[in-house]
Amino acid sequence: MVKITHITEASSSASHVYIIEKNTVDIAGLDTSVVSAFLSSDKKFDYFKQPEGFVFLVKADQKTEEIRVLGNTIEGHISDAVESIQLHSTNNEALYALTEGLLLSSYRFTKHFSKPKSYKLEEIYVDAHLTTEQIQELVSMAKSVFWTRDMVNTPVSHLNAEQLAEAISHLGDEAGFQVTVLGKTQIESLKMGGLLAVNKGSIDPPTFTIAEYKPSNAVNKKPIVLVGKGVVYDTGGLSLKPTPGSMDTMKGDMAGGATMAAVIYFAAMQKLPVHIVGLIPATDNRPGGNAYTPGDVITMFDGTTIEVLNTDAEGRMILADALAYSAKFDPEIVIDAATLTGAALRAIGTEATIIMGNADDAYFQDLEKIGFDVHERVVRFPFWDDYKTHMKSKIADMKNIGGPNAGMISAGKFLEHFVKAPYIHMDIAGPAWLDSKENYKGDGGTGAGVRLLYQFLKNRYK
Ligand code: BES
Ligand code: ZN
Ligand code: ZN
Repeated sequence: MVKITHITEASSSASHVYIIEKNTVDIAGLDTSVVSAFLSSDKKFDYFKQPEGFVFLVKADQKTEEIRVLGNTIEGHISDAVESIQLHSTNNEALYALTEGLLLSSYRFTKHFSKPKSYKLEEIYVDAHLTTEQIQELVSMAKSVFWTRDMVNTPVSHLNAEQLAEAISHLGDEAGFQVTVLGKTQIESLKMGGLLAVNKGSIDPPTFTIAEYKPSNAVNKKPIVLVGKGVVYDTGGLSLKPTPGSMDTMKGDMAGGATMAAVIYFAAMQKLPVHIVGLIPATDNRPGGNAYTPGDVITMFDGTTIEVLNTDAEGRMILADALAYSAKFDPEIVIDAATLTGAALRAIGTEATIIMGNADDAYFQDLEKIGFDVHERVVRFPFWDDYKTHMKSKIADMKNIGGPNAGMISAGKFLEHFVKAPYIHMDIAGPAWLDSKENYKGDGGTGAGVRLLYQFLKNRYK
């Protein structure tokens, strides 16, 4: 990963970014005439190339997100060209955003190339207006988001349920939180019928990963439980997804699980004073000799019976068991993240996460506000009990699919049935994955939700 350090006398770099405030023409290293011409122009960004390196000019007076995106523009110019760059600014917020955008843009998924191209940019030197703590936070942020992207981008042949659980255990070892992985035998003893049903067509065993970060100075009495969908590959099962197309990106169907593990990793690296528990049920979903079938009736972990009418609605089957298991921790709130429905993607695209639930409005207001701040926007959908009727089965307690309309909401209502505590469901089917590159989010796995939930926890539990 690119290193970030403060600019010192010795830092040798011939490329520079200057974030310039209104009416400030005196800037060390720049001609006043250049600065005043830039400030009086209507450009928000400009650059020129000198024999020694690049000079980028950025107006400080812009929206935070515009500055993050400029971080990506700058990365595009320099990543193959220079080994280091210096960022100069007296504006803390702008400097943070620019560094964040630049850093997030430096992600490359190269592990499957026989000869991976090396990444030239090695070092970002930043002005002392960014504090050491902020640099540390940016490094933790990039590590968490990049880990999530790696998990989402890695195909199932290299990341099955056990390998995902192992990867989460590594995070725990590194950042100092506890990770317990339940294997198939333990999942069977617990009678997690939903997770076992989805796993029946698989040749790989399922896992149920429990991550717990419990600092001694935690300010919350009851833990926050984060549940994430860990479907390491979703073929749809016997209700096979149509090809070509709809199966291509399904190696990323564990994005919710990866996101929740990464949030705990981020919080632990930053030593947030908040007690968090992560629950990540994982398996692939495949047709196979013994695969669960449409028409099947499954008894879930909490005893609820489910009529399976579509094996492609597998996310809710495995999440239901994890959500019911959360009661063991007597949580303050349970939040889940899942690439749960095509309906969510179709409704609002890749631009935002759909959230819904029965928790206090204050949690939703926080998520909405922070969503705009970090530009991982969320949209709250209705969650009226009327939608529960979509899930009524003629022969069991519920069926696993709703009607033709509002599929993202009936899925949420299905999940709500299993949760005792206040609950928020996040359907990240849209933003978790991008088919083509979009600024600092890149393409493929985006890591959407990691910055949002970290910031949510940081703001709420100080
Ligand atoms: N993993 C998919 C949802 C999905 C679709 C995520 C597209 C990302 C992009 C999920 O398991 C699924 O297949 N859902 C079905 C549910 C339906 C059968 C009720 C869907 O949305 O079509
Ligand atoms: Zn599915
Ligand atoms: Zn799925």
